[in-house]
Parts: sequence; C-alpha cells; structure tokens
Amino acid sequence: MTHWTESVYRENPEVFRRHLEDRLDDAAEEADDLLALLSDHDIDPESALDVACGIGRHAVELGDRGVTVRGIDISESYLDRACERVADRGVGDAVAVERADMRDLAERTDEYDVVYNLWTSFGYFDEATNRDVLAGMHERVAEEGALVLELVNRDGVLADFRPAGIPEDDEDGLVVESADYDPETARMETTRRVFAATDEGYDYEGEMVYDVRLYAPAELAALCRDAGFESVSLYAGLDGEPLERESTRLVVVAEP
Ligand SMILES: C[S@@+](CC[C@H](N)C(=O)[O-])C[C@H]1O[C@@H](n2cnc3c(N)ncnc32)[C@H](O)[C@@H]1O
Repeated sequence: MTHWTESVYRENPEVFRRHLEDRLDDAAEEADDLLALLSDHDIDPESALDVACGIGRHAVELGDRGVTVRGIDISESYLDRACERVADRGVGDAVAVERADMRDLAERTDEYDVVYNLWTSFGYFDEATNRDVLAGMHERVAEEGALVLELVNRDGVLADFRPAGIPEDDEDGLVVESADYDPETARMETTRRVFAATDEGYDYEGEMVYDVRLYAPAELAALCRDAGFESVSLYAGLDGEPLERESTRLVVVAEP
C-alpha cells in the first residue's frame, strides 16, 4: 500500500501546496528565531541541512543570511518550487536542494552545523522507522552542532483537542479539518479538505489525509538521547519561549 506521504506530497501535492505558500510570510521570522535560538546554544552555523525542506521556506531565508544550506525532500513538485524561489531570491550560491528521503540519512557522509526539521515533518512513519530517521539526523550533525526539531506538542494538543474546525478562512477559499487521535498508538489522523471561493460560494478542490505520531516532550527527549544526543533542550517555539503544559508546539534542540 502506498504510504500517505507519497500520496499527499508526491502524487497529489497541490492540496498542501497552498498551505505551504500561505506560510511563506512566516519564514523570515522563523529563520531569525532559529538562528537566535542556536546562538543561545553558542552555535553560529555556517552549514545547514533542511530535512523535509518543502518549497524551501527556511532554506532560502537562511541562505540569504549567509548559511550554506542543503535541502532534501521527497516531493519533486515542492523541490521545483524551491528551485524557483532560490533563483528568484538570488541565493543559488548558498542553497541547493535535492530529492532524497529522510529515511536514508544514515547512508550519507555529509555533516552540518545544524540539521533542522520544521513544521511537524517528523513522526510520519512507524515507531522503528521514526527512531531510524532520528538516528540518521544525529549522524548528519557535526560534533559541535545541533539538531532542531519543531513539531506538535502532544500534551498541548490533547489539552484542547478539536476533532473538527476551520483553521483558515480567507477570500481565496476555505479549509476544513477533522482529526482523530488514537491513544493506543499516540497517532493523530487529520483530514484536510480544501474549497476554493467562487462567486456563488465554495467549490471543493481536494483533500489530504495525514497520519502523524505525536510526542510528549519527555518522550521525544528520551528518543533523542537514545539516538545518541548528549544534551536535549525543550522549548515551546523557535522563539525560545519556555515549554508549558499547554504549549501547542514543541521545539527540541539536541546536541551530540
Ligand atoms: C509539513 S511539510 C513541511 C515543509 C517545510 N519543512 C516547511 O516548514 O515549509 C512536510 C514536508 O515533508 C516532506 N516529506 C515527507 N516525507 C518525506 C521523506 N520521507 N523524506 C523527505 N521529505 C519528506 C514533504 O514532501 C513536505 O515537503
């Protein structure tokens, strides 16, 4: 059976693409926050690996700030868009993207001052594979570097669980989400239906279903230590806000 990541990001990438494009405006601030957070850990990165780079939201911003970035992703469509954005911003000397699978990171030999994986791009696979992905990211981090993960905080999401909602409603269209959480597997399956605005109302455009393992902070910290990281710091966001019980996001800075 085709894994959901293949169908959502490779076979039918348009449904999520709008979401990626809508979040382009946030990327500059997120890149600044990422660099400031790393600086708090005495890391001033010259090189970075963007794992699951999508359309290069952060890769382009970091390239613009003098970091040499390699982005990897499985989606040809998003990588094409990333290349377009790299050219438009004139950061081709600093940023390169390639089609590669995060499950194959352990087979590589390249190393980076920072390896980052942002916007809930971790937890896509079964337990053993997620562990392997983490171990692969650990292997790509230089000795004095760090891994940064930014993802959903399971505790915060469950504290205010919304099985259905409309996260965005703008003049271009409407997005309707429904979610189901399985406490036995700690996985959340979300269906995202997208409608385009028309003069008469809305036209159904398509939908995607994604199935992600959610982690409690202490659990993910333990996984990072198992993967070989010596020091693990937790935050509520890339801005370095302290993690609280109801924080909806979770940021991990893991150092070898
Ligand atoms: C939620 S998006 C985040 C993209 C980007 N990090 C951002 O913040 O804009 C998830 C990304 O993971 C990529 N992806 C999914 N499975 C992957 C895999 N096995 N290896 C590499 N990338 C993958 C998708 O193609 C998609 O671009």
